[in-house]
Amino acid sequence: MASPSLLSLFFIFSLLLGMAHAHYLSPNFYARSCPRALPTIRTAVNKAVAKEKRMGASLLRLHFHDCFVLGCDASILLDDTATFTGEKTAGPNNNSVRGYEVIDTIKSQVESLCPGVVSCADIVAVAARDSVVALGGPTWTVRLGRRDSTTASFSAARTDLPGPNLNLSQLISAFSKKGLTTKEMVVLSGTHTIGKARCTSFRNHIYNDTDIDPAFAASKQKICPRSGGDDNLSPLDGTTTVFDNVYFRGLKEKKGLLHSDQELYNGGSTDSIVETYSINTATFFRDVANAMVKMGNISPLTGTNGQIRTNCRKVNGS
Ligand code: HEM
Ligand SMILES: *[C@@H]1O[C@H](CO)[C@@H](O)[C@H](O)[C@H]1NC(C)=O
Ligand SMILES: *[C@@H]1O[C@H](CO)[C@@H](O)[C@H](O)[C@H]1NC(C)=O
Ligand SMILES: *[C@@H]1O[C@H](CO)[C@@H](O)[C@H](O)[C@H]1NC(C)=O
Repeated sequence: MASPSLLSLFFIFSLLLGMAHAHYLSPNFYARSCPRALPTIRTAVNKAVAKEKRMGASLLRLHFHDCFVLGCDASILLDDTATFTGEKTAGPNNNSVRGYEVIDTIKSQVESLCPGVVSCADIVAVAARDSVVALGGPTWTVRLGRRDSTTASFSAARTDLPGPNLNLSQLISAFSKKGLTTKEMVVLSGTHTIGKARCTSFRNHIYNDTDIDPAFAASKQKICPRSGGDDNLSPLDGTTTVFDNVYFRGLKEKKGLLHSDQELYNGGSTDSIVETYSINTATFFRDVANAMVKMGNISPLTGTNGQIRTNCRKVNGS
């Protein structure tokens, strides 16, 4: 009897330790070591978004795809080499995730201010927040002190990032696996208020599903043929460069672009959450900001774990 209970104590203890890591993060982490870090990131993000509005959406998604795979540790930024396959070519990321060059630019600016101090994982987290603000969304305080991984996982990128053809229960469990609630899954999906998707991501929904407005389906079929045109783009909601609640209003009109989007308002348990956000922007903004903080705290590397990469694309010394 002693060994199973010891084992369960150990698990409870490690769970508590894992959660406690987020508490090592602090908003003031760089206040002394690199006071210009945050304004430098903000200026660079504003510049990138002014040049191309979609970049705000891309930088936000980059943070999501970092956090869901091994935690928010910049693992997604490591380039493949002859002897190493990282996350960039895994299905959910390949030919889809954008913004790597913007992070490189910010990293080199911050490195010249304070060499070896600011992690790539923190830059990605702050850039995501600044992107949302630049497109008219809410702000939140980013806790800092994440360190960068020395590894990445192609296989975890394939298994842990939710795909556009998942149903509601699969979406709920993908987020639950990362410690996020159903309501947080719904509100974070509301970030599809900005950005675009490729035809290959929504083809199934516009040709095969019945929970879609017929005129909306027909208009999307014009830009996304049954075969070919895989990379043709469509906005994810009706106001793709503005962070607002139009995404949720669209779901109520059966104008979700992805199958996974419309699953959130399809007669199931999350309809009432969509309903609330579709009529209350302030509630959407408050909840999405809180959920972004929580997502940003998934399994950070802290203390002496990991490293501060000099080049976000490479492990130091490699
Ligand atoms: C709920 C599960 C989710 C699924 C199934 C999903 C799926 C997708 C897909 C398939 C795309 C289009 C990719 C492409 O075609 O290249 C996309 C785009 C996007 N996703 Fe999600 N996503 C989910 C949750 C999230 C979350 C939690 C965030 C952020 C916190 C997010 C932010 C974005 C943004 C901003 C874009 C547009 C990116 C751009 O234009 O570059 N998504 N998502
Ligand atoms: C990623 O995309 C490239 C270019 O489209 C393709 O050649 C490659 O096979 C893809 N990689 C994986 C692992 O699917
Ligand atoms: C969701 O998909 C899974 C896997 O395909 C399936 O087992 C499950 O029955 C589906 N759930 C619903 C509610 O359709
Ligand atoms: C529609 O569903 C069928 C059956 O599941 C599948 O074979 C086909 O590829 C789907 N079509 C599209 C355009 O996704």
